[in-house]
Amino acid sequence: MVSSIRSLGLHGVTGYPVSVECDLSGGLPAFNIVGLPDTAVSEARERVRAAIKNCGFSFPVSRITVNLAPAHLKKVGTLYDLPILVGILCAGGQLKLSGPSCAFVGELSLSGRLRPCAGMLPMALRAKREDIEALYVPEENAAEATLAEGPAIYPVRDLGQLVRHLTGEEPIPPASPWQPGEHTRPYPDFSEVKGQEQVKRALEIAAAGSHNVLMSGPPGSGKSMLARRLPSILPDMTREEALEATEIHSVMGLTSPEHPLIDLRPFRSPHHTISPIGMSGGGSNPRPGEISLAHNGVLFLDELPEFPKEVLEVLRQPLEDGQVQISRAAGTVTYPSRFMLVCAMNPCKCGWYGHPSGRCRCTEGEVKKYLSRLSGPLLDRMDLFVEVGALNFDELSQRQPSEPSAAIKARVDRARAIQAERRAVTAVPCNARLGREGLDRYCALDEGGQRLMKGAFEHMGLTARSYDRILRVARTIADLDGSETIRSDHLAEALQYRPPEYLQR
Ligand SMILES: Nc1ncnc2c1ncn2[C@@H]1O[C@H](COP(=O)(O)OP(=O)(O)O)[C@@H](O)[C@H]1O
Ligand SMILES: [Mg+2]
Ligand SMILES: [Zn+2]
Repeated sequence: MVSSIRSLGLHGVTGYPVSVECDLSGGLPAFNIVGLPDTAVSEARERVRAAIKNCGFSFPVSRITVNLAPAHLKKVGTLYDLPILVGILCAGGQLKLSGPSCAFVGELSLSGRLRPCAGMLPMALRAKREDIEALYVPEENAAEATLAEGPAIYPVRDLGQLVRHLTGEEPIPPASPWQPGEHTRPYPDFSEVKGQEQVKRALEIAAAGSHNVLMSGPPGSGKSMLARRLPSILPDMTREEALEATEIHSVMGLTSPEHPLIDLRPFRSPHHTISPIGMSGGGSNPRPGEISLAHNGVLFLDELPEFPKEVLEVLRQPLEDGQVQISRAAGTVTYPSRFMLVCAMNPCKCGWYGHPSGRCRCTEGEVKKYLSRLSGPLLDRMDLFVEVGALNFDELSQRQPSEPSAAIKARVDRARAIQAERRAVTAVPCNARLGREGLDRYCALDEGGQRLMKGAFEHMGLTARSYDRILRVARTIADLDGSETIRSDHLAEALQYRPPEYLQR
């Protein structure tokens, strides 16, 4: 009278195997679920009871105990409805599972229909590692589950259909692997941006080496417009990068049944009213935050000085490590969070500080106060600073479209290919992440470069950290140029992207 049904659970963005054991025994009728269920799991009792009755089965009149093993991990959500129901029917002899080792996940409605659940890809990937051969999932989750390229995925619409399949009456055909259709790039294009050649050049360098960028300039100069076009010149995602991003979106329930793979680089642009937890991830049932949703893509912080210090503070560690650790009483969850950071700001509260028109009405004190909100450690992690000037009339009235994103992307792709070739030595895919060894090996300066750097060091007050950043940017500029060595003109350009005086402290 005991059955054991395989299912899966989620810890962070990692799936783990769960075994749903059902025992029917004599005594007063009861229905208990043990094994650290949360309230959503406990409520499974009501949904399962109703679904069994409404689908023509009889709900056993006995003492039912369901154990979700391993018992020490907290079981969250509604995905255990289906395995619990199958377990009860099997324990009571109303249903028999035969054939390959199979697993079930899915929420039930009272009428026995299956509803989609979050986190399908990580669970399907885990099922693959556990040698599960057949995975029964709600219909809407099926396409996403096939991305794991693991078990056969059976899309289940409702309970009746599942029973007819299991009894062999009417087999469900397994879902065919999801394939992307024709791809139309939804990103806006750089061809729409007039003028601003210097800013576009800086963004091209940033894209080519995956460097962080800060743009500063008066309102309406096009900072937000430029930032939103950055993903259009970033290299295409690899399958591995796309799966990583999909896992995170999946856990948040942000994947779509029609196009489950996140194969366009994420562009996240949280508002400055976001909470620290919204940014970093967390909560009592920890969920990924913006920095993880931006994984393998771009995190754009518009109006940077408006973000509270506590919110910017949480970016520090992830910017170094490419992941974020969230500690809870129950243990630690780690989410990936490797993103390109792009920030935009006005140089003062009114936005016109330093503008030749003299429109700025802020006092020096007000400007200082405004800029003091910027976190020093965050500024320290920016690779390129670029001033975005207001367009003049000639530039604005220009009718010719500018260079399209595709042309810029082709240059970025070439520069990235060069970086990828060095991967065997550097162990990183892009210049922004070059460590000591990579810097020493690939960022040597010639005599002219040495002299230039020495001058900069003495006159610009460079620190050791900014020294390395300049070298990385110079390496990217040389890669865009197809040059094996960093020449002085490459270095000279890199030095132009140092922070302006008003941001140096
Ligand atoms: N270089 C440009 N080329 C074409 N349009 C521009 C340009 N700069 C600004 N604009 C126009 O001005 C609007 C405001 O720009 P926006 O990016 O919001 O400025 P900012 O973020 O710097 O305040 C844009 O939506 C666009 O219509
Ligand atoms: Mg803006
Ligand atoms: Zn001002």
